[in-house]
Amino acid sequence: MPLIQEIDYGTPPTVAQTLVSLEIDGKPVTVPAGTSIMRAAVDAGVQVPKLCATDSVKAFGSCRLCLVEIDGRRGTPASCTTLAEPGMKVRTQTPKLAKLRRGVMELYISDHPLDCLTCAANGNCELQDMAGVVGLREVRYGYEGANHIKSTKDESNPYFTFDPGKCIVCSRCVRACEEVQGTFALTIDGRGFASVVSAGNKDFIDSECVSCGACVQACPTATLMEKSVIAKGQGEHSVITTCAYCGVGCTFKAEMQGNEVVRMVPFKDGKANHGHSCVKGRFSWGYATHKDRMLKPMIRARITDPWREVTWDEAIGYAAGEFKRIQAKYGRDSIGGITSSRCTNEETYLVQKMVRAAFGNNNVDTCARVCHSPTGYGLNATFGTSAGTQDFDSVEDADVIVVIGANPTDAHPVFASQMKRRLREGAHLIVIDPRRIDLIKTPHVQADYHLPLRPGTNVAVINAISHVVVTEGLVDEPYVAERCDTKAFDLWRNFIAEERNSPEALETLTGVPAADVRAAARLYATGGNAAIYYGLGVTEHSQGSTMVMGMANLAMATGNIGKRGVGVNPLRGQNNVQGSCDMGSFPHEFSGYRHVSTDAVREMFEEAWNVTLQGEPGLRIPNMLDAAVEGTFMGLYVQGEDIAQSDPNTHHVTSGLGAMECVVVQDLFLNETASYAHVFLPGSSFLEKDGTFTNAERRLGMVRKAIPPMAGLADWEVTMALSKALGYEMHYNHPSEIMDEIARLTPTFAGVSFKKLDEVGSLQWPCNANAPEGTPIMHIGKFVRGKGRFMITEFVPTEERTSGRFPLILTTGRILSQYNVGAQTKRTENNVWHAEDILDIHPFDAEHRGIRDGDRVELSSRAGKTSLHARITERIQPGVVYTTFHHAVSGANVVTTDFTDWATGCPEYKVTAVQVRPVKKESEWQEHYRETKRITTQIMSEASAGD
Ligand code: SF4
Ligand code: SF4
Ligand code: SF4
Ligand code: FES
Repeated sequence: MPLIQEIDYGTPPTVAQTLVSLEIDGKPVTVPAGTSIMRAAVDAGVQVPKLCATDSVKAFGSCRLCLVEIDGRRGTPASCTTLAEPGMKVRTQTPKLAKLRRGVMELYISDHPLDCLTCAANGNCELQDMAGVVGLREVRYGYEGANHIKSTKDESNPYFTFDPGKCIVCSRCVRACEEVQGTFALTIDGRGFASVVSAGNKDFIDSECVSCGACVQACPTATLMEKSVIAKGQGEHSVITTCAYCGVGCTFKAEMQGNEVVRMVPFKDGKANHGHSCVKGRFSWGYATHKDRMLKPMIRARITDPWREVTWDEAIGYAAGEFKRIQAKYGRDSIGGITSSRCTNEETYLVQKMVRAAFGNNNVDTCARVCHSPTGYGLNATFGTSAGTQDFDSVEDADVIVVIGANPTDAHPVFASQMKRRLREGAHLIVIDPRRIDLIKTPHVQADYHLPLRPGTNVAVINAISHVVVTEGLVDEPYVAERCDTKAFDLWRNFIAEERNSPEALETLTGVPAADVRAAARLYATGGNAAIYYGLGVTEHSQGSTMVMGMANLAMATGNIGKRGVGVNPLRGQNNVQGSCDMGSFPHEFSGYRHVSTDAVREMFEEAWNVTLQGEPGLRIPNMLDAAVEGTFMGLYVQGEDIAQSDPNTHHVTSGLGAMECVVVQDLFLNETASYAHVFLPGSSFLEKDGTFTNAERRLGMVRKAIPPMAGLADWEVTMALSKALGYEMHYNHPSEIMDEIARLTPTFAGVSFKKLDEVGSLQWPCNANAPEGTPIMHIGKFVRGKGRFMITEFVPTEERTSGRFPLILTTGRILSQYNVGAQTKRTENNVWHAEDILDIHPFDAEHRGIRDGDRVELSSRAGKTSLHARITERIQPGVVYTTFHHAVSGANVVTTDFTDWATGCPEYKVTAVQVRPVKKESEWQEHYRETKRITTQIMSEASAGD
């Protein structure tokens, strides 16, 4: 595909229903009321010269290049700030305008270095273009006067430069940072000729900047410029694809030179991101070609042996042979597979198909087990669908936004920007979180209520909120009567109204003042459209599923389901965690969440796949590991997942992996799990394959191959080869054929195909005959399950209790610049922001233990010990400590325990009783880890020396 140049309409669109008709350069055009003349002109096929306007930010009217003449009006108004009116006759090209524009351009160019031919933006610079458009041939003032040309460049950001010598002070960057990103990191300092763009009088790296790239995108010159473009030049062609990091699912234009990515530009038509991005998708793609990529299959008989590089055929043959041998010796159920939420839907579908059809059992699970499995369970039980209820754009109609156990500005940054925009417009905000997350107070945003609950008391807090709704007469009675199962509602109403669920009764337990709970509950129930957004702080608890049901109860009771601006919305973590669940990655479900024991469904798959399938659910990941330790589960295929780092209780995970006779790991890098592997199969990155990802709003976005698979095969091809070697052949020439099969066998995907996705860009399931264009909002008019079902949500404290020995509670989370186990982001420049995981501790707890800021501290729990450097901060409440889990050596999961959600087995990452004390050196586990890493590296270098 040639390099796609998106149209810049100059000013943002309006959504008014009323239309106005006018004439521009004699061409009639009709636009929504409120549209600028500049934007209307583009619709009429006329491009008005411009510099300070771009359609991602509101018009500013500073450059005076876009002047027009309007019949019957005096002067030459700016077309970007003047709105189209009925009957207007506008002229954009007159001798008077041409003269004025040349004069404006002359001033700009006289203060601009004339290095166009060697400038990185040459050919893609609006200033250069405009000089051409207005026909500027010479500059009367000369270039010798006072100018900014020799200003010092700021190279501090690892991904882009700021060269003030090229700045035309159009303030597009400042407005993009404010309006698009919502960070307000930039200002224009000084006045007139002395005006300069400033990142708060600091270098970019030390400023508030979060490297989202919105300013770089908006800059019409080479002032703010990607370093990759400066180094490599501009792209020659582009490929539209989907970000492979988080569940926002931003659409990007990968600009390429041959098989090399030059830059990733957020795509304006992307329906999840509308042209915005965060640092990860925009800049942190270098991992895809990092030198650590493993590009050759390898095998070894024992995990203490050196790896031996082999051909694909030999590796696949060896893995299949081992799996067959194990099944012959230990039985059919002695092997299983783990699908990846990083891989495409098509790849995930194939892995679960291989397990069910070729392994002959249902021992398949996915990393959603450790994150959002309670979402599936809780929302299915109450609403009838295992997914969020809204599209992201719905937030634009929310009047009250409730964020529970989520940190959107770090974990879902692009959606956070959209949410912040709505909050700046005046929506109210309630945050329920043990930590003071950034959203609570950001520029022009201030939470109405922050309920800083004790970790592990989510259900008590949601019950207390519902108690207020029920006992203060705030239930939407007509909605409940019409839409919900009233018997279940009556039971729930009686339960929730009990005094023990009141905010006052629960105050001591939750740590949240009852008055705040009451006020927040009233705001939620009476403040207009109320929308709940939640994250792993809800699900990763022993009562994760109960909490999901508690939020669903509250939303139903107040009529906040089934229209725009409301809903219960999981902010799903990984790029395709929704998809991996949809595709049948759980041991009890086929694609589309249909139970394996349902005869009609199973028979349909048996007929389509031409194989007999098992009707009993298989093993979940923790059960596979238990069975391995017991000696009954001996073979595992893990695609794109690093359970040795990401799953709780590392000792237990590694004991299970270490006990197996054949572990097959397929990944981009030799990850922690690979230390226990016998077969390593190279994985392919998102740039190397075709397929789809499904984001947190159920949106399927296309992933398109930008470069050939670096190891020769895409992941779906590897799974097909392994299945064939096991005796079950699959026939697909392209991932589109896999999607066609998914659509044939899955009613909610019946209308999905690559052809349709190419036409419309993206689709939200359900997409079928009833909803051929997909379903942005679920449960309109009627719940998927018929009547919404209220569930009793008794609060049961976790068994993980603090004690004299472990008096603090550890809770964990993510940071913007790193991603999950860090496999990708650690191999990028993002390490400048977060080179190690840090333990946040309140000053009170630190002082009590003699801990100073920056000290190394031991973090110990009933499960194990590790050590980290401490940061003393009041963002965390007394009695609670917090860390991230991005670096393997931190061993955050060495201390997390085996406690899990009662319904789904999702680990209780968010509550671990711990003790913290100053130490001088790393823990035994860390020393062991470093030694293992050293040996692995040595084995690898010996292997490559022998090549
Ligand atoms: S990169 Fe983003 S956060 Fe940083 S200054 Fe630019 S717009 Fe603001
Ligand atoms: S840095 Fe770019 S966008 Fe910002 S004021 Fe200068 S020229 Fe305009
Ligand atoms: S918000 Fe998520 S999907 Fe979007 S660019 Fe960032 S990491 Fe990628
Ligand atoms: S583009 Fe309209 S004044 Fe600058």
